[in-house]
Amino acid sequence: MESNVRKKRIFSGIQPSGELTLGSYMGAIKNWVALQDEYDCVYCIVDLHAITVRQNPADLRRRAMEQLAQYIACGLDPEKSILFIQSHVPQHAELSWILGCYTQFGELSRMTQFKQKSQQHADNITAGLFTYPVLMAADILLYQADLVPVGEDQKQHVELCRDIAQRFNGVYSETFVLPEPFIPKMGARIMSLGNPMNKMSKSDPEGCVYLLDRPEDIRRKFKRAVTDSETSVRFDKEAKPGISNLLTIYCASTGKTVEEAEAEFAGQGYGAFKTAVGDAVIELMRPVREETERLLADKAYLESVYREGARRAQYLAGKTLAKVHRKVGFIAR
Ligand code: TRP
Repeated sequence: MESNVRKKRIFSGIQPSGELTLGSYMGAIKNWVALQDEYDCVYCIVDLHAITVRQNPADLRRRAMEQLAQYIACGLDPEKSILFIQSHVPQHAELSWILGCYTQFGELSRMTQFKQKSQQHADNITAGLFTYPVLMAADILLYQADLVPVGEDQKQHVELCRDIAQRFNGVYSETFVLPEPFIPKMGARIMSLGNPMNKMSKSDPEGCVYLLDRPEDIRRKFKRAVTDSETSVRFDKEAKPGISNLLTIYCASTGKTVEEAEAEFAGQGYGAFKTAVGDAVIELMRPVREETERLLADKAYLESVYREGARRAQYLAGKTLAKVHRKVGFIAR
């Protein structure tokens, strides 16, 4: 019975614009892993998106390969899910052009991320930065994804994607599945260790833990984590953002509940607590780092994974793009 029901499809991606962090793991990849059995999952390394701001070519290449190894080391299984590199599937850029002709200048101008990034990169506001959400819509719609796991900051882009799909379907009849943003219940939002009011960001080396950090780096970063002037380990996001963030990390690392963790550290100072959080993260990340290193030494295997991923992705993407060409009125190739 169940095998006859089409599983819902999931699409998501992360840019290889920096090293993956504990935030990417706890907020995204860990959930992606959990979704693999119940859903038909497509996970991408979105290198086309990464070049919307200037990248060093050697770093970009290295990080894309590392990211693939890390996806697998974290538990994404290339036998279950499609793992691929965006630039290996030309349909993304092709559909992006077409969808761009169904997207309003005004809509793109309203995107919060565009406004932020064009301030950060005021000397290099490119057409690519502006049309970034159109490429993201193409990513999602090519695979007829039902659900798109993303952080709060990407919700607006998924909603725009939905609007574009709806508009296209309205003009040409049912073509695209309308996707929904999927913000998983247990998706932990990890904040910066240096400034717990901000999200943990890969561009803030001391405030973030990279998945490939050595134990001594992890220990140091937790030791320096910003807390508050009280002494009790208690979850209170407003009054105690630093301690609350550390509790979130500790619980996500150990599987304990907040109540259990609070009881465990009752009467102990912040020093002992920070050390315990650091140790828990070190143990959580150790197998991921070791497996990533092992995989990176096996280039032939990683190549076979991304080739097979691109082949399977192209098959699905090709079907959607052919349909779009037909509807728009292009002559079949
Ligand atoms: N824009 C997303 C981010 O920066 C990455 C991304 C690109 C993405 N294409 C996507 C996420 C498609 C989900 C679906 O986080």
